[in-house]
Amino acid sequence: MEIIITKNYEEVSKKAADIYKEHMEKQPQTVLGFATGSTPLGMYEWLIKYHEAGLDFSKVTTFNLDEYIGLAGDHPASYRYFMEEHLFGKVNVPKGSIHVPNGMAENPDEECQAYEERIRKAGGIDLQVLGIGINGHIGFNEPGTPFNTLTHVAELTESTREANARFFSSMDEVPTHAISMGIKSIMHARRIILLANGEHKAEAVAAAVKGPITPELPASVLQLHPNVQFIIDEAAGRLL
Ligand code: F6R
Repeated sequence: MEIIITKNYEEVSKKAADIYKEHMEKQPQTVLGFATGSTPLGMYEWLIKYHEAGLDFSKVTTFNLDEYIGLAGDHPASYRYFMEEHLFGKVNVPKGSIHVPNGMAENPDEECQAYEERIRKAGGIDLQVLGIGINGHIGFNEPGTPFNTLTHVAELTESTREANARFFSSMDEVPTHAISMGIKSIMHARRIILLANGEHKAEAVAAAVKGPITPELPASVLQLHPNVQFIIDEAAGRLL
């Protein structure tokens, strides 16, 4: 595990985008893992700028970490919509190469298995970006999720629902379940970068980096991954 501490969020975002850009230039036909939430927004802005300057997404296949159950792709709080708004609608990834779990699937468990199979058939994820929850979650793998979980239906904790309530008009509208790539699916990625900024992430980051490796702090599993970098700002690195 490599820890890169930068001055601020802007530098976290630029560094992360540069890693994606260099990877794509070296390997244009690649499988990229994407995340939603506030953290990767700056990175996506940079990737759009790089695309405008020539970075090509035409041979890329993408997989997103998660999606709320019960929200269709045209719901403004769905992760599919988020990705269209902040990245996919602004770069040239072929629509058919974009994968986000289907939150409206009639049988969510079957959708989970099918999603896992799609990742496998694509050859696995080459480069995955992650954020981290204040409780140490990655994807929607909340504390207590066993490390051997593949893509599955996850129940959101109250703290995660509260943290995400800002995207909905009331707490009642925040979904209670999501489809999420599992810890094991994430660990299969060949390279992982985890981004974090702000004081409120400092405890989770410190526990992930220095704490015991335990399902109670899901991101701590990354200590076992052979190719992972934490790219964090000074505030998020305050306890390291
Ligand atoms: C989103 C995801 C989540 C977020 C995490 C941090 O696809 O998988 O694990 O990365 O909740 O969210 P932000 O970035 O909003 O602090």
